[in-house]
Amino acid sequence: MPLIPEHLIDEIQSRTDIAELIGRYVPLKLSGRHFKANCPFHREKTPSFMVNPAKQIFHCFGCGVGGNVFSFLMQHDRLSFPEAVRQLADHAGVSLPEPSEQGKSESTKPLAELLAQTCEYFERLLQHPQHGQTARAYLAKRGVTEPTQRAFRLGVAPSGWRGLLTAAEKRGVTQPLLEASGLIVKGPKGTYDRFRDRLIFPIMDVRGRIVGFGGRSLDAQEPKYLNSPETALYRKGQHLFGLAQAKEAILREQTAVLVEGYFDCVLLAQEGIAHVVSPLGTALTVEQAALLKRYAPRAILAFDPDAAGETATLRGIDVLVEQGLEVRIARLPAGVDPDECLRSMGRPAFEALLARSMSVFDMLIETAISRCDVDHIEGKVQAAQFVLPTIAKVPDAMLRSEYLRLLAERLALDESAVATELAKSGRRLAASLRMTEPERQPAASRRDRSMATGAEQLLTALIIEEPQRLSALQGRLSLEEIRDAALRRILIQVSDMMSASGQATAAQVMSRLTDAEEQSIVAMLVELAQTTASKEGALEECIRRIGAKTKQQRIERLQEQLRSAEASGRHETVQQLLSQVQELVHHEEER
Ligand code: UTP
Ligand code: MN
Repeated sequence: MPLIPEHLIDEIQSRTDIAELIGRYVPLKLSGRHFKANCPFHREKTPSFMVNPAKQIFHCFGCGVGGNVFSFLMQHDRLSFPEAVRQLADHAGVSLPEPSEQGKSESTKPLAELLAQTCEYFERLLQHPQHGQTARAYLAKRGVTEPTQRAFRLGVAPSGWRGLLTAAEKRGVTQPLLEASGLIVKGPKGTYDRFRDRLIFPIMDVRGRIVGFGGRSLDAQEPKYLNSPETALYRKGQHLFGLAQAKEAILREQTAVLVEGYFDCVLLAQEGIAHVVSPLGTALTVEQAALLKRYAPRAILAFDPDAAGETATLRGIDVLVEQGLEVRIARLPAGVDPDECLRSMGRPAFEALLARSMSVFDMLIETAISRCDVDHIEGKVQAAQFVLPTIAKVPDAMLRSEYLRLLAERLALDESAVATELAKSGRRLAASLRMTEPERQPAASRRDRSMATGAEQLLTALIIEEPQRLSALQGRLSLEEIRDAALRRILIQVSDMMSASGQATAAQVMSRLTDAEEQSIVAMLVELAQTTASKEGALEECIRRIGAKTKQQRIERLQEQLRSAEASGRHETVQQLLSQVQELVHHEEER
């Protein structure tokens, strides 16, 4: 994490307004000195989500989540801390040193530049009166409007063998770089352009940077689609076509629609189904599913209703389910792909079709029932076995047992028998079930928190509110005496920041805590402090109580030692311990 200097993190934070940021995602209503909203992190009807503009933090009284601007983005958009910092840096106009793997990004810079220039070159060529004519006519025939062409930065590759090559060489692009870019092919008779006379769909990363290209043949040239080979910037299965254009819509809808083809993606987006992406001609990969999961909890698969599409669907399901996505399947009328389907039925009907999409488990159960003879027990078991591997991949234990119940119900099987079958259907499955348990346990720290004494909580709250109050502890209470581990870490963080720079706002403290749970605790404590009356008196009381508790524990420990010393007849030790206990008790009475 120290890759991004802390003073820059603080600067980005001070230039970002939390109410403005969160207001982009959820409608905020002013209520006193806070903004209120329905919590975006749990379902609720009465707003208990508070944004505190003075402290630059948010906190939900309903589900306990809380944090600063970075935590909000991290949790809402599933970004890592550096990703959240970078995203806000762009907005705040703070420039950061280049991304994490500095060496790597340094070495891929020329490649990134070449790809960016090439994208512009293809775009320009599409506008060229002669060179772009065929492609423009083709796009018109497929109904792709000019704004859509610009949004997806469509282009055309020249029809000769060395159009791009010559243009690049003229600009001084070196041969090794051209080769590394995958834009040219080295044949026995020399090098030539990979993409020739093809409609170009640039492949972008989430931020819209060009990483590769897909090209559709405009004549009989085979194959129909050609993609960039893997390069330092493009690895198959790591990107989703259209995500750069769709990400806001996906966030808004909390759903991503997955289609197979470039054209499906572009045309759906054009017709207002903006939350659409395509996995780029590969079977959906784990990386792609994880990428989607950052933006939405739900995916609707709208693959072609042919055999290839069905296979793609079945293969895609498990990958998505395994990432914890809720998967739904849209059933298109036979023989049409999403592009044709939308065109023929119109947007409202297409949207209704998406809304009617079927839960993946309903779909699997239905498929299983249609394929097996469920009038007999053997067939039922067979059907269950068809669905069970996917159920086993559901990471959430509660959901998993719910699906199990559903499956048993639909097949009229005994639920415990199905559960046994799930366990039996291979060690691998059982293992995969168990493996997901530990990481589902962050709730454990929530339990710890409730065990923390009120005094420790209030003390931490008062110090977060006014870190100068740390000086009241001097000589009376050491931070090591705080028994709750999270609170202790928070206090040590505040104390470290105070000795380093003399300041530690709650929002800054959060940036330095890597644990989301601890960030939420800080947010909760800020609110706690604000509702506390006579704070200085409360602080004194907390210090006294925590100190007394420490002392009591010390006495108890000594008494234990005392008992064992007496039992084994070590008289000298007994005397020593006795005087220690007396001293402690005495000291306590004097106060
Ligand atoms: P389709 O052939 O269904 O594509 O392949 P499409 O988008 O409907 O094509 P049009 O409508 O005929 O133009 C689906 C996707 O599979 C990949 C492409 O990503 C394509 O969009 N594909 C297909 C390839 O990579 N290579 C091919 O030769 C064909
Ligand atoms: Mn098509």
